[in-house]
Amino acid sequence: MTARVPIGIVMNGVTGRMGYRQHLVRSLLAIREQGGVPLRDGSRLWPELVLVGRNEAKLRDVAARHGLTDWTTDLDAALARPDVSIYFDAQVTSEREKALRLAVAAGKHIYTEKPTATTLHGAVELARAADAAGIRHGVVQDKLFLPGLRKLDRLVRGGFFGRILSVRGEFGYWVFEGDWQEAQRPSWNYRAADGGGIVVDMFPHWHYVLEQIFSPVRAVTAHVTTHIPRRWAEDGQPYEATADDAAYGIFELDGGVVAQINSSWAVRVNRDELVEFQVDGTEGSAVAGLRRCRVQHRATTPKPVWNPDLPSTDDFRAQWQEVPDNEVFDNGFKAQWEMFLRHVAEDAPYTWDLWAGARGVQLAELGLQSAREGRRVEVTELRS
Ligand SMILES: NC(=O)c1ccc[n+]([C@@H]2O[C@H](COP(=O)([O-])OP(=O)(O)OC[C@H]3O[C@@H](n4cnc5c(N)ncnc54)[C@H](O)[C@@H]3O)[C@@H](O)[C@H]2O)c1
Repeated sequence: MTARVPIGIVMNGVTGRMGYRQHLVRSLLAIREQGGVPLRDGSRLWPELVLVGRNEAKLRDVAARHGLTDWTTDLDAALARPDVSIYFDAQVTSEREKALRLAVAAGKHIYTEKPTATTLHGAVELARAADAAGIRHGVVQDKLFLPGLRKLDRLVRGGFFGRILSVRGEFGYWVFEGDWQEAQRPSWNYRAADGGGIVVDMFPHWHYVLEQIFSPVRAVTAHVTTHIPRRWAEDGQPYEATADDAAYGIFELDGGVVAQINSSWAVRVNRDELVEFQVDGTEGSAVAGLRRCRVQHRATTPKPVWNPDLPSTDDFRAQWQEVPDNEVFDNGFKAQWEMFLRHVAEDAPYTWDLWAGARGVQLAELGLQSAREGRRVEVTELRS
């Protein structure tokens, strides 16, 4: 029988949307269902989960639903356990930094949702502290593992685009205000004091997508606004939406690539997917979403002629070709968890650490600065 190597993981924030669905159910429980993570020496790494949260009743309910018995509302006690080696955090953003610091101090490896902190200073200090403690650290960068973006990455690596000119991203959907229909996102996202805001939420994602698939971001110009100033919370009470709900950003990348990404929770979807990136290059273009990726090569590019007097006879969308999967795509959160667990257990390479997380927080902070000051802001390199 294959040897099972247990690895203790404290999971904080499992009653939340991301912590429960993506990290507990779709990642760690799915890993257990498949028999653990296979290691090079033939053994299998087996996650032993300790659920942590604020609300005893909710925790007990989540644990019982999945046959888990190890849970506590005492984070310090969980971190003091010698059989725990990893701390995972999917709490609300505003609570993260403090908890990650406790985990570093306890000598635990860290795996965390983004953003890693609410300020660049906090994110950098955290990365430094983690390095100084000699622990392993990783930050969720799930979008990189989406089938659509994996196919886009494949096109870039394969030289499909020639010289890449521009990237245009559209992200967003209508988040209901909460009065006549319940909001589909937690209300803290719309309160600045609680760590909300679309820039803090989405710029870290755009940062790693741009940096990893294309090239590092060198400058940002952003216009940021709150389109919907009043919303209704989970308890039905109205509140003032103090955080930004839309950001219109221009990101200048190494090599002259211009990326322009709109992010909005106040837009109605007239796209094929909730996020789409169009990439234009000298040899071809692509449109990638969460799952799909379509291309148009230079040789199959039609020649539209501007003539508003006549109705267009072109079916522009039909002129693109689907990029085939050519591989099986696992859940992105799970795929990244497996990589991080191997990184901890057998020193497997792992790129997306707290420094990568800090660069994402930096882009959010500089985006907000750009908007506040009404100017383009250059991105300086972070020093360890
Ligand atoms: N990677 C992604 O695609 C992605 C997507 C959405 C959210 N996130 C990140 O995940 C984190 C959680 O987001 P979510 O949408 O799951 O939020 P959520 O509100 O559904 O869950 C928040 C969790 O934090 C806990 N919590 C701890 N202290 C709290 C406090 N003071 N107030 C409220 N809740 C508190 C809650 O109990 C809950 O378990 C955020 O940091 C967010 O940026 C990541």
